[in-house]
Parts: sequence; structure tokens; C-alpha cells
Amino acid sequence: MQFIDLKTQYQLHRAEIDGRMARVLEHGQFIMGPEIEELERALASYVGVKHAITVASGTDSLEIALRALGIGPGDEVVTVPFTWISSCEVIGLVGATPVFVDIDPVTYNLDVAQLERAITPRTKAIMPVSLFGQMPDYEAINRIAAGRGITVIEDAAQSFGATQRGRKSCAVTKIASTSFFPAKPLGCYGDGGALFTDDDTLNEKMRAIRTHGGIKRHHHPLLGMNGRLDTLQAAILLAKFPHFPGEVSARERIGARYTELLRGSCGVPEVANENTHVYAQYTIRVGNRDQLGVKLKEEGIPSAVYYPKCLHEQPVFAPLDYKWGDFPASERASREVISLPMHPYLTKAEQDKVVAAVNKHAQPTDQAP
Ligand SMILES: Cc1ncc(COP(=O)(O)O)c(C=O)c1O
Repeated sequence: MQFIDLKTQYQLHRAEIDGRMARVLEHGQFIMGPEIEELERALASYVGVKHAITVASGTDSLEIALRALGIGPGDEVVTVPFTWISSCEVIGLVGATPVFVDIDPVTYNLDVAQLERAITPRTKAIMPVSLFGQMPDYEAINRIAAGRGITVIEDAAQSFGATQRGRKSCAVTKIASTSFFPAKPLGCYGDGGALFTDDDTLNEKMRAIRTHGGIKRHHHPLLGMNGRLDTLQAAILLAKFPHFPGEVSARERIGARYTELLRGSCGVPEVANENTHVYAQYTIRVGNRDQLGVKLKEEGIPSAVYYPKCLHEQPVFAPLDYKWGDFPASERASREVISLPMHPYLTKAEQDKVVAAVNKHAQPTDQAP
């Protein structure tokens, strides 16, 4: 059993993927070839925004967004301490200060009730993460940011394909960023990412920053980076993209079935805010996380922990002067969560095996989340 099965997906769509890659090898435009624009049009249309800008990774895309907003030293950016390092790393890379808000223990997303308290006159952006595949309440977050000169950036690395109140992830904030890392809901065969916005000025700036600070060759009005997506990766994404809506439906179905069969023996993911969930990770909460991981492994079931440490526990963020106890919901989640095999091609038999093993070995947490 695979934790995320990329091989089955490749076997199913091999002819299209190989064909698309072969065309790139033949035309030879490996950097900014025609597939880049074709993919950007397809992504923008799927999400329902004016502009999609492909980039080299989800990390680069977050950094480009912050740079396009002119965020730097002296500015604060609000995010969560229970996420992948990139969400916070990029704030430090542009010289700004990360400010953490704890998560809601049920959805693992930013606790909107605690957001207002974290905002100061130096807050320039709020960068919530749509963790594990569902979105925090962006209507509420946008409302808090509105009129204060604060931009909301959705870190949608894990939620591409999800919706909230009928609107797609990446379409509900001023800027959104996603990742095409192979294991993500829409993944390429290397690193990749994309930015989304309806704003023409930000679109131009982000495009320029992606390509060394300028759109015209040998003209560099901004400080930029080499942040382009490879044409080959765009070709792979174009081949996979027609199958993505079907994969999203499969993810929803498989996630809902896990929840139905596991509820009662462990903490299951709850879908909130009129969301649909793409289950980039199917994450449960138990009282014996490490022991459960060992038991699953003994039965041939892979599992993973996202994330075993909060960001305020990471040595690199020690200068922020947070301490253990500052973010109890995040801290508790980091000690209790474990993610189960999850991908659109997980069979019922495989899922039944996982469910039986979890129901047998999981111990409840000592308190409700
Ligand atoms: C929440 C979150 N933000 C950002 C990223 C960064 O994406 P990438 O790996 O494409 O740089 C990831 C990827 O793991 C992520 O999960």
C-alpha cells in the first residue's frame, strides 16, 4: 500500500503525460515554452480568477507574493505555527516578522477568534494556511483585514481543488499561492507552484519578480528571482489537469468514507465553513500517535506525521521569543496527529485494512479537541 500512489496515476494517464513531455522535448523551449501560458490559462479558468502565474515552487510563490506587496523589515505578517516551514520561512526571507495565531483544534486552521488580537499597526499581511485540504473562514478573515491596509494571502499549497461557499480555493483572497509538489492534490514531477490574483498591478509585479524583476529581456525594474516553472512540469500538469476534477471527487468520497468508518475510535477531520475538503492529508488525532504509527507499519500500512513540531519550536524561529505554552492547540495537535494513506486511487479493500488497523490500535486522546 502506498501513502500517496503516484505510480497508478501515471499508469492510467501515461499516454497523455508521455505525449505532452515528448512534445516539449521536440520543440525544445524548456524555459517559458508555450505550455506555460496554456497552463496559466487553464488554471485561471478553473479557479475563476483573472490571473494565474506559474512559479518554480509553492515556497517561491509565497515569497513572490510578499515581495510584490513590498513587505520587508519592520512589517509583520500573521500566520499559524502549525504548518509546513515555508509558510513562515518566506516571511523571514523578506526581512519581515512572523506573528503567530493559534489554530482551531477542530479544523487545524487559523483560529479566527484569536486573529484580531494579533494585529498591530505594523501588520501588512495575513497569510492563513488552508491546511490538510480545507479552508479557514476567509469571509471572516477578509472582513478583519478590510480597511486596515492588510492583504490576505491564502497559502493554498494543500487545498487546490477545495471550495468554500461554492468558491474555489485560490479565488477568495487578494493573492493565493499553491504548490505542485508531487504529493499535492495537483502535483507535477518535481517542484512547481502558482500564484492567483484578480489584481492587474499585482499580476504584473509578481510576473516580473518571477523572472528576475522584469518582463522585457535585459530590463529589470524590480529585484526579482529565478522563479519560473519548467516547461516540462507545465506539460505534465496539462496532461494531468483534465483528470483533476474526477480526482477531487474521489478524494472527497474516500475522505468521507474514512470519517464514517473511523468516527468513535479517533479524532476525525471535521469539514467546516461550508467547505469541501480535498484531503491533501487525511489526518486523525489519537492519544498514542507514535505507537499507532509503529502498529500500522507492522501491518504494512504507511503513515506520516504532519507536523511533529510547531514552528515556534524550530531553532530558526527562536529569536521570535515564543515559548512552549503560547499556542496550546497547535502544540497539542503536533503531539497527537497522524496522517493515513490518502490518494484518489486508494481501493476500498486498502481503506478497509487501514480502518481495521486504526480501530484496533488507536487510543483516544485524554480530552476533547
Ligand atoms: C502549507 C504549505 N505551504 C507551502 C508549501 C511549499 O510548497 P513547495 O514545497 O512547493 O515549495 C507547502 C509544501 O509542502 C505547504 O504544505
